[in-house]
Amino acid sequence: TEQYAVFGNPIAQSKSPYIHGEFAKQTQQNMQYQSILAPVDQFKQTLQAFIAQGAKGANVTAPFKEQAFAMCDELSELAQLAGAVNTLSFTAEGKILGDNTDGVGLVSDLQTQLGAIKGKRVLLVGAGGAARGCILPLLQAQIAELVICNRTYSKAENLASIFKPYGNITAKAIEALNHPFDIVINSTSAGLAGGLISLPKEIISQHTACYDMTYSKDVTVFNQWASSVGANKVADGLGMLVGQAAKSFSIWRGVYPQTETIMRTLRQQMV
Ligand code: ATR
Repeated sequence: TEQYAVFGNPIAQSKSPYIHGEFAKQTQQNMQYQSILAPVDQFKQTLQAFIAQGAKGANVTAPFKEQAFAMCDELSELAQLAGAVNTLSFTAEGKILGDNTDGVGLVSDLQTQLGAIKGKRVLLVGAGGAARGCILPLLQAQIAELVICNRTYSKAENLASIFKPYGNITAKAIEALNHPFDIVINSTSAGLAGGLISLPKEIISQHTACYDMTYSKDVTVFNQWASSVGANKVADGLGMLVGQAAKSFSIWRGVYPQTETIMRTLRQQMV
């Protein structure tokens, strides 16, 4: 039985063991997937101990994605540009390969929920790690334009300059946003603390679809705001979570699992 795990701190809340357990059953893979709590200052040692047991791969979540990036011997282009990894593979030769599947998870869920995103004008709100991991997959989906805004403008500007070679991306100050987008994506962590980044309502029209990377049983704070100012559609990040897991699973096992049933079950189980 091949061993996998997700590393984080905290980790008890992680749905990854359940999701990968279901994927394994569905695709008949002989594997086990557990969650491992790494002490905040001992990620490296904890991961190395797991590798030493013969493990095949791991997911990494907060706050270790940048440390995991630093431990990799080889990185995918996506991971390199994201500056963070959420998926590790351990080779027979003892190498650590790093990838970042968050953005692929986001784009595949956007396509499932909203249809094709090619040609769309997209606003990305927030410029932290979550935003950075998604920019290249968004640009590669051939959207017409990606505008990035953030409470701290300099961070949005920095990301726009890093990704400039890969597509049509610009940074804009929040106050300068004065027209509607086709898709508005919230990547900020404001909602997790019950807060809301203040945005001009002009970014939303009756044709705008909004996507919140966070998720909860009830409609998220950002999506409540989006609906209240007239958004056509809102979706939360549960599908992104399952989508990034599906992509990780396919990297490890070479088969792409189905995600719809698991999405439905997770939604029902949420408390
Ligand atoms: P993550 O990995 O989740 O992206 P992060 O790198 O700490 O976490 O980034 C958090 C993002 O949420 C940032 O864009 C942050 O804005 P700043 O760069 O200005 O700090 C944003 N954010 C968090 N709380 C916020 C709030 N109350 N209002 C507006 N933006 C907020």
